[in-house]
Amino acid sequence: MTEIFVDTANLEDIREAASWGVLDGVTTNPSLMMKEGTTDRKGVTLEIVELIGGGSVSAEVISTDAKGMIDEAREILTWSDHVYVKFPTTVEGLKAMKVVSGWPNGRINATLIFSANQALLAAKAGASYASIFVGRLDDAGLDGMEVVRETRWIFDHYGLDCKVLAASIRHPAHVKESLLAGADIITMPFGVLKKMIRSPFTDVGLERFLADWAQIPGQ
Ligand code: E4P
Repeated sequence: MTEIFVDTANLEDIREAASWGVLDGVTTNPSLMMKEGTTDRKGVTLEIVELIGGGSVSAEVISTDAKGMIDEAREILTWSDHVYVKFPTTVEGLKAMKVVSGWPNGRINATLIFSANQALLAAKAGASYASIFVGRLDDAGLDGMEVVRETRWIFDHYGLDCKVLAASIRHPAHVKESLLAGADIITMPFGVLKKMIRSPFTDVGLERFLADWAQIPGQ
């Protein structure tokens, strides 16, 4: 079953998305936290867990060295059983993944992945999710969806127990294409989710139904 996450720290957007009954999780990152003026990473993360009734909520470390990442993860992962710690997919990030994945609560989202090779190494190091930045690859004129496809094939062919998470989503076509490419999870801005449900044909069709109904005598 595919999972839909929203990619934001905006609590109002998360509350609205959760009310639609389609939300499985939330991803945040330092830029999204800054955008909302967040000063309390723990407090916002726990509010998000509350808003979505559990699910999966990713909070990213700030450290760039393995020791610092591990120290942050030791605290972050105690916040809630629903919280995943995000490590950048760097050498230091792999070292942190290897240690933290050995913990009983070692829930890891490997982020800033731009190649199937990086996804493979993150999965080998024990990541729960491999976050592939489709939009940023496309922005650079590369083929982000190809990385999703390649990663899906490698994870399936070699039995890697790690979910393919399509991230850096720019529009609804990215959502559909990510599903067709085999992503397990898609995290998207709330604006993309809102565009997914909209169709002018639905609006016109509804108007027509209501207009026809109104012509029935006595209605
Ligand atoms: C995942 O959580 C990523 O941090 C996020 O999707 C990045 O999106 P962006 O490329 O639009 O910054």
